[in-house]
Amino acid sequence: MCGIVGYVGPRQATAILMDGLKRMEYRGYDSAGIAVINGDGLTVRKAAGKLGVLAEELAGNAPTGRVGIGHTRWATHGAPTTPNAHPHVDRSGRIAVIHNGIIENANDLRKALVARGHEFTSQTDTEVLAHLIGEFYDGNLEEAVAAALRDVDGAYGICVISADEPDVLVAARNGSPIILGIGDDEYLVASDQSALVEHTRSVIYLDNGEMAVMTPKGYRVRSLISRRVDKPINQIEWDLETIERGGFEHFMLKEIFEQPESIENTMRGHLLEETGNVRVYGLKLDDDQVKEIKRIIITACGTSWHSGMIGKYMLEELARVPTDVEYASEFRYRNPIIDEHTLVIAISQSGETADTLAALLEAKQRGARTVGLVNVVGSTIAREVDGGLYLRCGPEIGVASTKAFTSQVAALAMVTLRFARLKEMSLLDGKRWVEALAALPGQVREILSRADEVKVLAEQFADANNALYLGRGVNFPTALEGALKLKEISYVHAEGYPAAEMKHGPIALIDDAMPVIVVAPRDAIYGKIVSNVQEVRARGGRIIAITNPGDEEISDLADATFVVPETLDLLSPILTVIPLQLFSYYVALRRGCNVDQPRNLAKSVTVE
Ligand code: G6P
Repeated sequence: MCGIVGYVGPRQATAILMDGLKRMEYRGYDSAGIAVINGDGLTVRKAAGKLGVLAEELAGNAPTGRVGIGHTRWATHGAPTTPNAHPHVDRSGRIAVIHNGIIENANDLRKALVARGHEFTSQTDTEVLAHLIGEFYDGNLEEAVAAALRDVDGAYGICVISADEPDVLVAARNGSPIILGIGDDEYLVASDQSALVEHTRSVIYLDNGEMAVMTPKGYRVRSLISRRVDKPINQIEWDLETIERGGFEHFMLKEIFEQPESIENTMRGHLLEETGNVRVYGLKLDDDQVKEIKRIIITACGTSWHSGMIGKYMLEELARVPTDVEYASEFRYRNPIIDEHTLVIAISQSGETADTLAALLEAKQRGARTVGLVNVVGSTIAREVDGGLYLRCGPEIGVASTKAFTSQVAALAMVTLRFARLKEMSLLDGKRWVEALAALPGQVREILSRADEVKVLAEQFADANNALYLGRGVNFPTALEGALKLKEISYVHAEGYPAAEMKHGPIALIDDAMPVIVVAPRDAIYGKIVSNVQEVRARGGRIIAITNPGDEEISDLADATFVVPETLDLLSPILTVIPLQLFSYYVALRRGCNVDQPRNLAKSVTVE
């Protein structure tokens, strides 16, 4: 996600800001910028692309000044262009803001500001915030920021400077991390410890609703309302490399553990509790257009195809729209039947997968309406679709997709709700669906707190050379995804099957050397899967069951059981997949595999 760095002190700010941004490069970003207070003015420099592009532009004419802010952007509002890059300035051009997070009421604030004569040069929510702070400014930056933030809904970590108060740096946090670095007569701000450690190991972690005001003479932490909050100073103990992965041994593990936040970010601002519905204007489908859709085709590759399969179960069950899921590579070459009543949904973490892009273009050419569920803002697929939802789950660096998968399923659940509430779903059921969605991040967090249980299981089963994953209904695709994860990073041959289909072939493989992982939450078809598990047991298979609290039948048959909290049947893959992700990670670790960069695989496959 985006990176923030700020500096106030005796040294030249530009070099410190650029070093800090460089330290956060591993997080992924698409543009960068700095603002430095220079004499009595403000110099803002920014560039789309990698940090190297900005560094080249600064070479030989870097702005001088001892107070500044710097930002690497991972786009959430608007394409990754130079005008959309941070810092953004207010109407006077004398206040500069950098921001991580999403301001949910940015559209309303923007409309009000436009009505009062403001003009905007970017599509970002951050520029709206800069203008708002500018409106409140009457010589006291700290109070102007506090006043503006009281009008803001959503998540932010921000850093603000003003040319009119040339030795003041203001930071604030609500939802996005902000860390203060306490040096000798100098203070730093960063969204990530990695940008601080080479300057100081003494840090203060801002909590939500808190602000900090720093000058070369000292600092003060306050809240949006009160003038002072006492905060302890902590010491960073990790080395730089560990910090860049947030203390996790691998990016994949870090990303698995980010899922409570990433799922929440996917849904942020979309769920409407009162009306049991979702606000998804980005789909660009009004009520009449939704009603016109007679058929849906979901197209994707790899893990994204698996989330698409889950989408099919949701859309057909609740929205009653016939839905097909197509491998993008197959779809494009088989003369698909499409008309103007067909909606094609392309799902892609990267937004650049060549087969998915080609399938999308084919669908467009044949007259389908298109929607994209994409993580990377401004990516090719995101630009080609008629409408869409960004997953907003942050950059995924580990090659094996984890957090993108759960965000894709959450996004599909929201698309389903949009359709279902216009068709047959009642207000009450809509409310239950929204409530269940909102509960998922907490439930994922609870599962992750028991990751060690999965580690123990993985160590017991790590020597197996084959594995079978079974699931029924909406958890059949979960079984496919579990098998794919194991294949990808631990090179163990694994297959996913619908549990009942097992007896038509794979059952021949079962013996005591073959672990069978059964995804069996206590849903409507739980009873059916019990008999399938009995069939495995009878042939000496070793069974790991993923089920819900209160299960007795499958636990009695299984060698090991991992329970996940209950949710609505159709949402269960978001929970049942978590132990499967962890299982493949710990098996790969045990087998000494390169978890983040498995052999032969690429994160983004831009060739056919
Ligand atoms: C590659 C990656 C997979 C991913 C697939 C689709 O194969 O290794 O993890 O699921 O591409 O990628 P996309 O970016 O389109 O979701």
